[in-house]
Amino acid sequence: MFNAQQLAQFSEKETPFYYYDMALLQRTLESAREASQKNNFHVHYALKANFNDRLLTAIKDAGFGADCVSGNEVQKAVDAGFDPKKITFAGVGKSDKEIRLALGHQIFAFNVESIEELQVINELAAEMGTKANVALRINPNVDAHTHHYITTGLDENKFGVTKSELERSASVIKSCEHIELVGLHFHIGSQITDMNVFKSLCVKVNEWKNWFEERGIPIKVLNVGGGLGIDYHNPDENPMPDFKAYFQIFDQFLDRNPQQEVHFELGRALVAQSASLVSRVLYVKNGQKKNFAILDAGMTELMRPALYQAYHKIERLSQDAPSEATETLNYDVVGPICESSDCFGKEVTLPVTQRGDLIAIRSAGAYGEVMASKYNLRDEIRYVYSDELS
Ligand code: LLP
Repeated sequence: MFNAQQLAQFSEKETPFYYYDMALLQRTLESAREASQKNNFHVHYALKANFNDRLLTAIKDAGFGADCVSGNEVQKAVDAGFDPKKITFAGVGKSDKEIRLALGHQIFAFNVESIEELQVINELAAEMGTKANVALRINPNVDAHTHHYITTGLDENKFGVTKSELERSASVIKSCEHIELVGLHFHIGSQITDMNVFKSLCVKVNEWKNWFEERGIPIKVLNVGGGLGIDYHNPDENPMPDFKAYFQIFDQFLDRNPQQEVHFELGRALVAQSASLVSRVLYVKNGQKKNFAILDAGMTELMRPALYQAYHKIERLSQDAPSEATETLNYDVVGPICESSDCFGKEVTLPVTQRGDLIAIRSAGAYGEVMASKYNLRDEIRYVYSDELS
């Protein structure tokens, strides 16, 4: 994935840094755009996956909308040049200040998560003399078969309104003069790689859409959320998901009339593979039971392994191609932070490693730098962009 020229330049840089392959990002955006346009689908990029300015510009220029989960994300999307008519605002806990800000920008829609929130948005819109478009988030009780921390569409999850609240939600919407129901919203989880899960989602979406239409409530937008997963194990072989297959599922299994729009909120699928966290080995400890490669990057730069035991491919970067003669050892690849969970991978087979070697932690473009923390008073994140290398 890295050529000799890039590696030579990496070796002069201060580590750790996030390396962004801007060409791969472009190809991924192009592929997603082409596949979604074919089905006339609208894709909003979920800023929470990564709100790096350079990425946002590329995503906006590629024609995507923005899916935001805080007032600051709404503002960021506006500042990055996304058309407010293509901005949605989701989240279970929108504050009054955030709702006012989004109303002020006249965004496309609020994805509303509770009956109380409907009433609050109605009141604030009345105060501001405006009307808010809303999409009601329904918890469809579909198991996303992913890590339980990133499953969102089960009855026990905090997101959306459940079946038992639908009747009341519909009557509250009817009675609120300052809100207009434009759609239904679903999102069942993240890093979903089993396409059957999306088929099950379509069945539920059809059910709930019919429920509204049978009551004479028209639904213009079906927002099916995000969640499309990537191949963390084989980033070079599968540098992007099969967008065509993904969108085809919805084309095939969603019942919709020609006036109905289908919206998506993709985060990870668009950006994850385009970045690696590049780090240096500070020390190698060859212990009795274990070898440790201690990096200058830690959970403060990439929290996913510590938080979800998430797998990221770890590679030693070297200008010499590995050969049969290359000796390998198993290492626990760890960071410098004072926590035992600060570990990127256990028993990782790497060519014998020494102080100063460069290590890449792959597929780090989504939920990487955005989840970074200052714990241990770490340095600010550094960046290298492929198109800025000579
Ligand atoms: N829409 C909603 C309402 C969401 O909650 C999310 C992600 C997305 C869209 C985008 O999902 P994606 O296409 O990226 O799967 N930090 C975790 C992932 C948390 C996802 C939260 N919601 C991780 O590192 O795996």
